[in-house]
Amino acid sequence: MVKSLCLVLLTFVPLLWFARKSDGMPDPARRDLLMREEVSRQTGGLLTLTAAEHKLDTYLHRLKEQEMAATLFPPAEHFFKAKVLIEKSPIYKLLQKMPKGAALHVHSSSLVGAEWLVKNVTYRPHCYICFTWDNSVRFLFSNRQPFPRWDCFYWQLLESLRARIEDNAGFDNSLIQHLTLFTEDPDGEYPNQDVVWEKFEKAFIAAAGLITHAPILRDYIYQGLEELHKDNIMYLELRSGLSRTYELDGTIHDKVWTLKMFQEITSKFKQNHPEFFGARIIISVHRALSVSEVRAAVTEAIQLKRDFPDVVAGFDMVGRENGGRTLWYFREALSLPAELGASLPYFFHAGETDDEGTDVDQNILDALLFNTTRIGHGYALAHHPLAKELSRKRNVAVELCPISNQVLKLVSDLRNHPAAVLMSEGHPLVISSDDPSLFGTTGLSYDFYEAFVGIGGLKANLGTLKELAVNSLRYSSLPAHLKDRALVMWQNKWDTFISDNL
Ligand SMILES: *[C@@H]1O[C@H](CO)[C@@H](O)[C@H](O)[C@H]1NC(C)=O
Ligand SMILES: *[C@@H]1O[C@H](CO)[C@@H](O)[C@H](O)[C@H]1NC(C)=O
Ligand SMILES: [Zn+2]
Repeated sequence: MVKSLCLVLLTFVPLLWFARKSDGMPDPARRDLLMREEVSRQTGGLLTLTAAEHKLDTYLHRLKEQEMAATLFPPAEHFFKAKVLIEKSPIYKLLQKMPKGAALHVHSSSLVGAEWLVKNVTYRPHCYICFTWDNSVRFLFSNRQPFPRWDCFYWQLLESLRARIEDNAGFDNSLIQHLTLFTEDPDGEYPNQDVVWEKFEKAFIAAAGLITHAPILRDYIYQGLEELHKDNIMYLELRSGLSRTYELDGTIHDKVWTLKMFQEITSKFKQNHPEFFGARIIISVHRALSVSEVRAAVTEAIQLKRDFPDVVAGFDMVGRENGGRTLWYFREALSLPAELGASLPYFFHAGETDDEGTDVDQNILDALLFNTTRIGHGYALAHHPLAKELSRKRNVAVELCPISNQVLKLVSDLRNHPAAVLMSEGHPLVISSDDPSLFGTTGLSYDFYEAFVGIGGLKANLGTLKELAVNSLRYSSLPAHLKDRALVMWQNKWDTFISDNL
């Protein structure tokens, strides 16, 4: 109330005062009007906040000013250094409590923290480990001594190995190191994108032996939902290759098994947490495959989408874009659904690059030409005006993953992230975490912090947060009636959040 009165005074009083002068000074009233019009264009800029929301917004604004004035401003630091600072931030603590809606860009192999994998999973019986010549690790569950495989000649039972080692805590920490990118010296250890991506792929392979063990995968999915739920996230769209899983005796399960299991675990989780909305899968295949392999994968995905319409959201191509095959390279395979008149929505990673003008840089436009539902990362979007226009017109949201972009070395100071442009224009955006376990995050609060405090700066306000959360449901793959239900559920959570934090 007081604030709107002030706005009125600010608008009219100077107008009267300066109307009498004609000394060439820009009209302050007009200036004020333009400033407010510009702010109205940003993400959430058109939302009208309630009195209670205004109050919380004012408080957040003050907190943000304080954090910006500190010597170390977390978004300007590498996340591996900023993490402890962020955890102390009262803004971060509020963001943890805030109902954030959905996580729409997360990969299944890095859904759950490495800590849980090491402290829980590797302590289970029948877990074997092997150290390869290039200093990475492999795990395998087996009811007998495994045969040599994957560069591995010498498998040791972890239980026996641990019995011989004195410093088990130190050993466990070294295992955690193999499963994440986390390091105290990110700039020294990862001098360029190639080095960090190499470690990235290694960590994926290391985790695979654990996660593809069928009984582990069940617990893993449940634990993943638990971690999201704890961070006040109500819905997940998980990118997964649906890798084959194995039992102790060597039995192998196929993709259908995994989808059924996923469905079953999700409903069990919902039974135990009725305020959790659900989870779906975006089937993803690696861009290192050949055209004919991708063709087969698309054909299979069409069938799986038909058989599991409530679980399968669509299809994506994953793996590093730079140096990888482009979407256009796969055009024949990717045209298949349209050709067959079948439904297979796309959720393409595109524009996760800073190499302007390369073939890979064209992925964004191609993703749009293939009618992608959302754009994964879209880091390069800001300098593709036409693609940007199309994405906005068609409501194709960009999945912004700030920490991923920083750790994988597209940007260092997050204040310089190109999504600052998208946010200031109110481009359709959602916030996600990409590979939480590899980056040492959990849930979405760390990424929300970076987006809200770093990329959005002082301008981003509670309306921005609200819109970002609503966007995550609005741009989800849920059918309209479920979307409406999810939004009602979210609004209730939001109202509670606001009244609890006044
Ligand atoms: C490991 O996780 C499972 C659930 O996934 C839980 O039941 C069990 O208690 C955990 N064990 C340890 C040692 O933390
Ligand atoms: C994309 O959508 C347009 C308009 O609905 C349609 O004509 C076209 O066939 C679609 N293209 C693909 C590759 O799905
Ligand atoms: Zn990704």
